[in-house]
Amino acid sequence: MHIVLLGLPGAGKGTQAKMIEQEFDLPQISTGDIIRLALKEQTEWGKKAEDFVKAGKLVPDEVVIGLIEERLSADRHPKGFMLDGFPRTLVQAEALDRFLLSLGIRLDMVLYFDVDREEVVKRLSSRRICERCQTPYNVMSKLPKKDDICDLCGGRVIQRSDDRPEVVLQRLETYDHQTKPLIDYYSLKNIVKVIPSRGDIQDVYREVQAVLRLLEK
Ligand code: AP5
Ligand code: MG
Repeated sequence: MHIVLLGLPGAGKGTQAKMIEQEFDLPQISTGDIIRLALKEQTEWGKKAEDFVKAGKLVPDEVVIGLIEERLSADRHPKGFMLDGFPRTLVQAEALDRFLLSLGIRLDMVLYFDVDREEVVKRLSSRRICERCQTPYNVMSKLPKKDDICDLCGGRVIQRSDDRPEVVLQRLETYDHQTKPLIDYYSLKNIVKVIPSRGDIQDVYREVQAVLRLLEK
């Protein structure tokens, strides 16, 4: 199974990806997570990405496309994979099509998490993440069991620097201009499944589960 998770910042892609990963044994490949780890380690290209991330802008296409192609070529994914946060521009989507074609892989589905802006602004202002494994938490709806310690890996739970209100507004604008057109791009290919993402985390996951179980058959 090869799927893409699409939706506004804060729509719940990372949250649902962790649950999908556990049940369906499908690795989550998140460009946001990869970029944040590179930034934390201050690798060469982590430094190059820093200004874009902090400003709520997209890292240049050629950098992210190179990163994804490298990641998909390096690891074997016998059960498929789940892309979270990639593609995010039409150029990235077309590059992904060409790359998957060269591997003889077909994209099965794009899960589009549909939620309104007011809700995502609320979610992002109260989000915390594990700095090690990037699992998302929330001070309003999903606290770790132990204060500031990740349930999954024991890492430290922190606030993301791009969750400051002014950066969130810029990220939403970036989404409108550069990522939203992908809904039409994939709708024309008839592979978009809309998942209403307003309910609580478990309700949303039940919808996801139903769709993926059908796809698995
Ligand atoms: P990235 O990390 O991908 O950020 P994003 O797309 O803005 O999405 P988020 O991670 O903010 O939201 P999410 O949908 O994962 O929500 P989550 O599950 O955490 O990208 C960051 C940056 O990296 C970009 O701005 C860019 O600079 C760069 N980048 C990344 N990919 C790139 C690319 N392809 N090209 C160029 N640049 C790229 O949930 C949010 C919160 O809500 C959490 O607290 C969670 O607990 C809570 N929550 C989730 N679901 C629910 C629910 N149903 N009810 C209540 N609360 C919920
Ligand atoms: Mg995320």
